[in-house]
Amino acid sequence: MSVLSPTPVSKHTTKTLSRMKANGQKISMLTAYDYTTAQIMDKSGVDMILVGDSAANVIAGHDTTVPITIEEMIFMGKYVCRATQNAFVVVDMPFGTYQVSAQDAVKNAIRIMKETGASAVKLEGGKAIEPQLRAIVNAGIPVMGHLGLTPQSIHQFGSFGIRAQEQEESQQLIQDAQLLEEIGCFSVVLEKVPAELAKDLSKQSQILTIGIGAGVHTDGQVLVTQDVLGMIENFSPKFIRKFADLHTTMTQAFASFNDEVKNQTFPNEQESY
Ligand code: KIV
Repeated sequence: MSVLSPTPVSKHTTKTLSRMKANGQKISMLTAYDYTTAQIMDKSGVDMILVGDSAANVIAGHDTTVPITIEEMIFMGKYVCRATQNAFVVVDMPFGTYQVSAQDAVKNAIRIMKETGASAVKLEGGKAIEPQLRAIVNAGIPVMGHLGLTPQSIHQFGSFGIRAQEQEESQQLIQDAQLLEEIGCFSVVLEKVPAELAKDLSKQSQILTIGIGAGVHTDGQVLVTQDVLGMIENFSPKFIRKFADLHTTMTQAFASFNDEVKNQTFPNEQESY
């Protein structure tokens, strides 16, 4: 590793990820919001880590992603980046940090890149934020788009239901995806859209498509880690697969700790000085 090039060769870049698409290799992406989780994820071989504004829901307990701030995203982003050796880290630009103007957008994207050490930012929307997307790409920052269900617009949509089922919205989504590619965004998240639409888009374009509730044919898949680990009770939309049942494991562990503190079996002699 040279002083001029501190990035280990194994670290993913937009180039290595694009090569994966060209070679037909699928890309894995999960969300992380803290050092410990990101370190385990990175060690597990996950290709991309998203410091998602879903933190508003799973970390801060809000109903929507609207309230989270840029300071909160930077706080989490820098710890995730510090833990990550190989994965490509993307930080979400929160609601309100790019909608007002291209100048605002590029200023906030630069701030996120400088203060977190991330490799890219993610923004929700297509044509409606074209000047902002162009300004950020022109600043030399890799941009991941986000189309379909864009949770920052939840108050406009009125529900978290599937998007782009009707011809008009599906056409708009195709045009938006083409626009993102033309602008030079390296990737796009397709959230809760019909699998056939996501398949066509993934086949027709060079841009990396990362699906969530978009079927198996996208170039990669992303999920929220708390969902993957089964940490959240009574939340099972059909696009989520729980790869563990940490809700049960954690509940049992916390209850055992509680019992053993109270009955004085923790700490024992070996655990004492
Ligand atoms: O914020 C987030 O976690 C996301 C994913 C659901 C794609 O945007």
